[in-house]
Amino acid sequence: MRCKRWQRAKHPAPKAGIIKLLFAPHTDRAFGLKAFPMADTIQKYKDYVMTGFLKSVAPIVIDRASGVTVTDIHGREYLDCFAGISVVNAGHCNPQVVAAAKAQMDKLVHCSSYLYHVQPVADLAEKIAHIAPGKNLTQTFFGNGGAEAIEGALKLARLYTGKHEFISLQASFHGRSWGALSVTGNYARKKKGGPYASGISFAPAPYAYRSPWPNDPEECARQCARAIDDIVKFATSNDVAGFIAEPVMGEGGIIVPPFNYFKEVKKVLDHYGILFIADEVQSGFARTGKMFAIEYYGVEPDILVTAKGIADGFPLSAFTASAEIAAAYKPGDHLSTFGGNPVCCAAALANIQFIEKENLAARATETGNYTMAKLRELQKKNSLIGDVRGLGLMIGIELVKDAQKTPATVEAEAIRDACLCKGMLIGVGGVSGNVVRFQPPLVITRQQIDQALAIFTEALQEVAQPAHATA
Ligand SMILES: Cc1ncc(COP(=O)(O)O)c(C=O)c1O
Repeated sequence: MRCKRWQRAKHPAPKAGIIKLLFAPHTDRAFGLKAFPMADTIQKYKDYVMTGFLKSVAPIVIDRASGVTVTDIHGREYLDCFAGISVVNAGHCNPQVVAAAKAQMDKLVHCSSYLYHVQPVADLAEKIAHIAPGKNLTQTFFGNGGAEAIEGALKLARLYTGKHEFISLQASFHGRSWGALSVTGNYARKKKGGPYASGISFAPAPYAYRSPWPNDPEECARQCARAIDDIVKFATSNDVAGFIAEPVMGEGGIIVPPFNYFKEVKKVLDHYGILFIADEVQSGFARTGKMFAIEYYGVEPDILVTAKGIADGFPLSAFTASAEIAAAYKPGDHLSTFGGNPVCCAAALANIQFIEKENLAARATETGNYTMAKLRELQKKNSLIGDVRGLGLMIGIELVKDAQKTPATVEAEAIRDACLCKGMLIGVGGVSGNVVRFQPPLVITRQQIDQALAIFTEALQEVAQPAHATA
């Protein structure tokens, strides 16, 4: 097996046998290390970097990246359709973002943005107030990563409401810290870390494809919203501070709630005085074709949590609330040493300006619709594809073995690995690990989409018909 992209590149693709070794994790023989000078970095990872929590780290050493292209230390190029886990929406090393960060680095890297006033923090918070859905979300706290922002949002909801419980969704993911894991609805992410916080209940995800209403998503949404009412009545002590949900569920397998879902949910929340925390860590910043995915649903969250795409790769996160809710924080209640790092905030501001100027939201819609239409054509010819779904460039391809929708987990991983061999980075997610995730930088061109689709089709055919692949 040789891949076309690699044939064109300076270095030829490894032969099939080597590829097998290449994907044998944690073995000394891993991909004939001697043949690849990048073995040094891989060996150091093995010796000095904690990776035991992963099945394997992809056996490439990345050197640089630009736009949608990632280059390894041998000069081999990869089409990046995962964007560093859905982060670099404005493209890798976007020149305008990098220039803003460099200019800020020459002036001030850190002096703790909560002890003193720093201009990029003020400017970015003002910008977020302007782009956040609705008129009420005006005050922002900045942290460093998604989980940290989730923790802060949960705490703020409790302080404001004076209540203590939360409702979250099955199949959700909110981060790896203890509080964020407590509201994460997937035992695969939580195992060995429990027991978690008490007072958390999980409502069914509005996952039409695997619900009893696969052909009636609106009914699925109504039933799932109704279940929240039952949960408040029968699984809580009616002391619920907040309902937390991803407007499009990322790690759970790109689950797009039907468009009536959050309006139905909001009726229940308002009835019980429960805050709505929208986790837009993965779906925010034009990824889904709107600046924030919740805009599709016609409801306003009480707290908006963001990270990932906020600064095009610089580590920054935020949660944003109304002035009234934000006022629940009193002196001593919260802080972060690095939160609101001036370099990250300057990068974020340039990033948002770029997203707006280049209208990346509209581009995500256009290229996303094109991609999904092509994938649905492919689905008609290949029964391994059970469902194609998404919004903008947050696309999931759910793989199933049969008409009973048995998750095709091994196949999803094999497709991801085959794509890597062919020069494309792609993700895998879903509670059963059977959803291929297509979440490229939003600057991806139509030509690059076509290349990506060609690589994916080839990989799919090889995995679906292994006999042909080795012929
Ligand atoms: C929806 C959502 N929330 C929270 C997080 C946690 O973010 P981080 O990894 O930056 O802590 C993630 C990460 O994938 C996410 O997808």
